[in-house]
Amino acid sequence: MSGLPEPQEKARVVRGMFDRISARYDLVNRVMTFGMDTGWRRRTVAQLRLPGDATVADLACGTGDLCDELLEAGYRAFGFDFSHGMLLHGRTGAPVAEADILHLPLADASVDGATCGFAMRNVTDLGGLFAETARVVRPTGRIAFLETAEPQGRVLRAGHAVYFKRIVPLIGGALSDGEAYRYLPRSTAYLPEPERLRSMLGDAGFAQVERFALAGGAAQLVVGTRR
Ligand SMILES: C[S@@+](CC[C@H](N)C(=O)[O-])C[C@H]1O[C@@H](n2cnc3c(N)ncnc32)[C@H](O)[C@@H]1O
Repeated sequence: MSGLPEPQEKARVVRGMFDRISARYDLVNRVMTFGMDTGWRRRTVAQLRLPGDATVADLACGTGDLCDELLEAGYRAFGFDFSHGMLLHGRTGAPVAEADILHLPLADASVDGATCGFAMRNVTDLGGLFAETARVVRPTGRIAFLETAEPQGRVLRAGHAVYFKRIVPLIGGALSDGEAYRYLPRSTAYLPEPERLRSMLGDAGFAQVERFALAGGAAQLVVGTRR
């Protein structure tokens, strides 16, 4: 895929990129989504629908915004991320640990749920991430994964492409690191189509898989229940 790292290089490139942008990651997120990312994370946590004191692992927690939403909802939350910089710049009240989410330091069926924000396109093996999530979430546990997306309608899609491919890199360049925010729109190419995403989650061991389009389709939320 043009402008994207080779598969064997991807993890190293992605980790280095997030280390570089970690100091201003939260600020750029708020600006480029017009603050909507906060509501998307709230919706993600609301979709878990687990008992109040459930334990929830936030995968690729970054600076910990989803961890905070989980704590706010009363869950016992903890996060994992492989970028030291992102963890260092986080201010979440939840415990976090440096770990690769494709090899979680968790026992089988040891958590009630899992969330993941904006990392599906960043892993080297999405099927592997779903399988690893299925391994650690107990039967009937819930998952809620949030990601960017491309709107379906022609007009919205065109407007979104201009914003995402032209304006976002300018915002990222002015506030943080232009190259990283040029990678962001390109990395959408890693995301499977909605139907494929659903079937991958089904194959990994999740039932009742649903997909919600957010902000006119600029973001998506996929949820499921561990069989
Ligand atoms: C776009 S950020 C999202 C951070 C946070 N979830 C949020 O909602 O703001 C993507 C995160 O995925 C992490 N990441 C990507 N691949 C990973 C992997 N294999 N293991 C652990 N973290 C990973 C990056 O370090 C980065 O912090």
